[in-house]
Amino acid sequence: MKTIEMFIGGVRVAGEGTLPVYHKATGEVIAEIAAAGAEHVRAAVDAAERAFHEVQLSPYERYEIIMRAANLMKERREEFAEALSAEAGKPIRDARGEIDRAYQTLILSAEEAKRLRGETVPLAGAPGCERRMAFTIRRPLGVVCAITPFNFPVNLAAHKIGPALAAGNTVIYKPASATPLTASLLVEVFQEAGLPAGCLNLIYGAGSAVGRLLTADERIRMFSFTGSVPVGKTLHEAVGFRRIALELGSNSANIVHEDVADVAWVAEHCARHAFVNAGQVCISCQRVYVARAIYEEFCAAAVEAAQNFKSGDLMDVHTQIGSMISEREAERIEAWVDEAAAAGAHLLAGGHRTGAFYEPTVLTDVTPAMKVVSEETFAPVFSIIPYDTIEDAVRMVNDTRYGLQAGVFTRSLAVANYCAEHLDVGGVVIGDGATFRMDNMPYGGVKDSGIGREGPAYAIRELTEEKLIVLNVEG
Ligand code: SIN
Repeated sequence: MKTIEMFIGGVRVAGEGTLPVYHKATGEVIAEIAAAGAEHVRAAVDAAERAFHEVQLSPYERYEIIMRAANLMKERREEFAEALSAEAGKPIRDARGEIDRAYQTLILSAEEAKRLRGETVPLAGAPGCERRMAFTIRRPLGVVCAITPFNFPVNLAAHKIGPALAAGNTVIYKPASATPLTASLLVEVFQEAGLPAGCLNLIYGAGSAVGRLLTADERIRMFSFTGSVPVGKTLHEAVGFRRIALELGSNSANIVHEDVADVAWVAEHCARHAFVNAGQVCISCQRVYVARAIYEEFCAAAVEAAQNFKSGDLMDVHTQIGSMISEREAERIEAWVDEAAAAGAHLLAGGHRTGAFYEPTVLTDVTPAMKVVSEETFAPVFSIIPYDTIEDAVRMVNDTRYGLQAGVFTRSLAVANYCAEHLDVGGVVIGDGATFRMDNMPYGGVKDSGIGREGPAYAIRELTEEKLIVLNVEG
């Protein structure tokens, strides 16, 4: 059995024990990873702290290293994609797509290294300051901790590690214990690209113990976390005045207005956005509010899309849906759907589980109190809800503790503008679904969906300190 070690201070390091890594679709154990104890966490922070003070790469050197790492990842695309498919239960075509996105994310990050800039401050505009000038510069924070999730383990790691290194920080990278294989490949390409020892350190661990050790170490100046709301809240409480970026998911909604040109196309599009990655996407299409005039037509097309969504061998390029991350997660969503059905929801399609696989599922007649509506399902399940006025639709979309992104399908500028102004989310997508994401856009939420924005150009603002320099030109 292959044991994958951690990577601390430029060398591979064994752990206190090991954890198994499962192939998520077959359940077979495919590797084991070293698990960190307190001394490994301390060693990782020591190494990152030392590298931050001693290495001091120029912005151009950082740009070159991140570009090289991106290109090395591209050369090893198939190796990354196969590891990703196995560790996450992802169809190979989605796994390849994620590596292609991660490549772009690293390129965008590298470019930001060269764009780090502050601004001039027009002090002379204040009375008595005529002979003073000021400007700001952006300085790295120091040691940054990236805690990444299982659903897009490569691209979401690239979103945290790329901008952190581009800004001149050093990084402690703690991937989800369910998806550690690609994390190891990622540190390998950075090492091969010439990143000096200690600048990127990989530690593994399951459960909350490693997280507690990390937050207890005050030398870590920022935490960037993608994952669940309860863990995000615990981290937020633990970090005190230190920086934190939290991307905590949502029960994302789309509005489909009665003026859309092709109802069936929109229904198929929403269904695809609900089922891709087995619905394990923070901006998965979970609730669709459909104008009553087109509700029946929309439902019929959504059912057809669900029934045509192809499951099967992960390595078959035609497979569209794989397993969920674990059988336990599939059992959880099965219980939520059963609970909704018992309370009056109508199952239009799906609703069956086989091991860790859950069928593409469409619900109607749901109520706001049902977990499939009010909580983040993180599963291939969506609900269709009719509305009478656009004001009602917006009110229902906003009636949640989450607010990451929302989508609006309409041909009316007035409806689009009303939704853009009134939807209480981090991003409104007009003419496409909430699930739309390009890696260069600002991405993040309001309310319980989190704090801060990702997308390299935006993340780098949070990963740097803006420092003021004042010049008294008389002195
Ligand atoms: C997420 O699930 O937060 C990321 C979605 C994406 O990058 O497409």
